[in-house]
Amino acid sequence: MSKTESNVATATAPAPTAGPALEIKDSRTGTGYTVPILEKGTEGDTAIRASDLRRIKERPDEFGLMTYDPAFMNTASCKSAITFIDGDKGILRYRGYPIEQLAESASFLEVAWLLRNGELPLQSEYDDWVHQVTYHTYVHENIKTFLQGFRYDAHPMSMLCSAVAALSSFYPAAKNIQDPAERQISIVRLLAKVPTIAAFCFRHVKGLPFIYPDNELGYVENFLSMVARMSEPKYEGNPVFVKALEVLFILHADHEQNCSTSAVRAVGSSQVDPFSAIAAGIAALYGPLHGGANEQVLHMITQIGHKKNIPAFIEGVKSGKGQKLMGFGHRVYKSYDPRARIVKKLADDVFAQIGMDKDLEIALELERIALSDEYFISRKLYPNVDFYTGLIYRSMAFPTDFFTVLFAVARTAGWLAQWEEMLTDPEQKIARPRQIYTGYGERSYESQLDYGYKVAKKDAVRR
Ligand code: ACO
Repeated sequence: MSKTESNVATATAPAPTAGPALEIKDSRTGTGYTVPILEKGTEGDTAIRASDLRRIKERPDEFGLMTYDPAFMNTASCKSAITFIDGDKGILRYRGYPIEQLAESASFLEVAWLLRNGELPLQSEYDDWVHQVTYHTYVHENIKTFLQGFRYDAHPMSMLCSAVAALSSFYPAAKNIQDPAERQISIVRLLAKVPTIAAFCFRHVKGLPFIYPDNELGYVENFLSMVARMSEPKYEGNPVFVKALEVLFILHADHEQNCSTSAVRAVGSSQVDPFSAIAAGIAALYGPLHGGANEQVLHMITQIGHKKNIPAFIEGVKSGKGQKLMGFGHRVYKSYDPRARIVKKLADDVFAQIGMDKDLEIALELERIALSDEYFISRKLYPNVDFYTGLIYRSMAFPTDFFTVLFAVARTAGWLAQWEEMLTDPEQKIARPRQIYTGYGERSYESQLDYGYKVAKKDAVRR
């Protein structure tokens, strides 16, 4: 039987389809296939099932056609009802609610509830939720000892990542991820304890004593208390800073299938406990192209040093020889990042209080020049959320390497909602992509080494 005949046989059983479909013709074999467009999101996203392409083969014993999509540029790995982004229109919504409205009026814990449960909490639900999170903020004393093992100059993201992974060993029952009660307590514990650990990381690096949680304070103010409190009997946060951090936490709470969330989902799909899965998310967020970007923005501004150096810096970016313009560009947003708009307004409020500084002037000028430059316009490179967050964090006296930790505290809410959605989705299995193998075909083993019991070929050369 010729190749073509065998494929005609394959093609005689097209996938039954009543709705819209792709008609695909394989030019290698001349065979036609009908691939249904089965998947449709509420906002118009459409997709075919990648596994439907497996019927497309040149020979019957082949694996079948795959899609090749490095960096998942055009692959939906899940269905999700949590966050919607329209990158072209600059839209971000959590569970349908526009980010602008949530940032304006909601609290971070209300948003965390919303992300997980899909609806806004009733007053009684919210009170109970706040109570639970507040009363799980303490960590085992051994966590303190664990953190004290780090060097004085350890990066707080390394510390946070390790300490959150270590929490898994304190709560062995958390591995019972199919038990809703275990999931509930793990989610509460993570939301409650990540800020405590984050603050302890800060205090360790500063050589300051750890400050225990204050259950009388709200989520954000308590976090600031654990970070900043010194000898005063009761911490009282600057209301402008408390409000700014609450808004920044809301803006960073979720962002659909970004690098760290995909890491949480992929690692969680192995059915490991949530502490380990969230630690994977923290590791991914640490990278300079992801959560580490706000830190990089500040380094970049320091490096520029003065407004007069901006044109030369921009030329370096455009030539590809210098660094990228950190805080600009986004995989999804190809118009203004809606979070950046809110953050810029927030920066105005914060700087109105504490005064404008040289670095903010550089940032504003960088933004102005980049937004009017053909290089950035043609590539649809706009400021992302990280462009101004670093400046706000610094004005609140957070050290640069702590910025990504602040991001991680907020994103824990989204990671947990996405993790649970993945676990309860009957279509999800352990994440296991395919590859296109490009290495050697089979070859025989012929060692080039001398193990003592056999002598390598004298004239051995690398094959
Ligand atoms: N500065 C200069 N040029 C850029 C930038 C930038 N910040 N971002 C993208 N480009 C250029 C690329 O060099 C490329 O140019 P080319 O077509 O001439 O080769 C073009 O724009 C397209 O860029 P890609 O790299 O294909 O875009 P991608 O979607 O892969 O990258 C990313 C997105 C990683 C965010 C990128 O824009 C970047 O590195 N930005 C700086 C880092 C940053 O701010 N990250 C934070 C992201 S938001 C977050 O994680 C919360």
